[in-house]
Amino acid sequence: MYRKEEFHSNTLDIHGTAHRQPGRSARSEDPVLHHLKSFARKVFKNARGSHDWDHTRRVAGLCERIGAAEGADMFILMGAAYLHDIGRCEQDAARGSLCHAESGAAKAKPFVNDLPISDRQKENILHCITSHRFRGKATPQTIEAKVLFDADKLDAIGAIGVARAYLFAGELGARLHNPDMDVHEARSYSRNDTGYREYVVKLCKIKDRMLTVSGLRMAQERHEYMVQFFNRFLDEYEAKR
Ligand SMILES: [Fe+2]
Ligand SMILES: [Fe+2]
Repeated sequence: MYRKEEFHSNTLDIHGTAHRQPGRSARSEDPVLHHLKSFARKVFKNARGSHDWDHTRRVAGLCERIGAAEGADMFILMGAAYLHDIGRCEQDAARGSLCHAESGAAKAKPFVNDLPISDRQKENILHCITSHRFRGKATPQTIEAKVLFDADKLDAIGAIGVARAYLFAGELGARLHNPDMDVHEARSYSRNDTGYREYVVKLCKIKDRMLTVSGLRMAQERHEYMVQFFNRFLDEYEAKR
């Protein structure tokens, strides 16, 4: 029913050189993908706005765009995109003390193992989930994992990224800003886990971690917009404008 998974090399090497290989078409009408999407969607029933099903849908949309350009296996990629954050509620409940990429992969494993797909496809979907996190220990190895990583990071920068950073800070009950505290001293999931802190410790570094040519191109534009926003934010906070 499904073609055997192939692991492509279609990314930037250490010299920034692109390597392309032909990809596969999207399989959004695939019954297995439909089943997988329904399973994932239910997990987000009571999710917080910063990491809800809407985030997953945006990431899936970016995966469609980047995956097509990068020659990814769209069945694997879209399946992984729908599942990638299903462990997020556990991380939030533990106030950041566990990794949602790892808990998500563990949660997805019994479901994925039941799907009528090859062992290699199952392995790749679970690898994509495990390696999608910016702060995670695992590094994306397959083209599908690299595209998912980039798509997920793109939703953390630019205008959407700024909006999500403040949405997340609001969910924690954080202050709008704390100019008296070194952001590197502030603890995550605390009252000082502000949108600006997230920008300094993570968001401003994202563009340099992109793994695909298409993802990097999009990240550069979103990054520039975000830098302008935070420069202006600091000026307005200090009543300079
Ligand atoms: Fe995530
Ligand atoms: Fe995500």
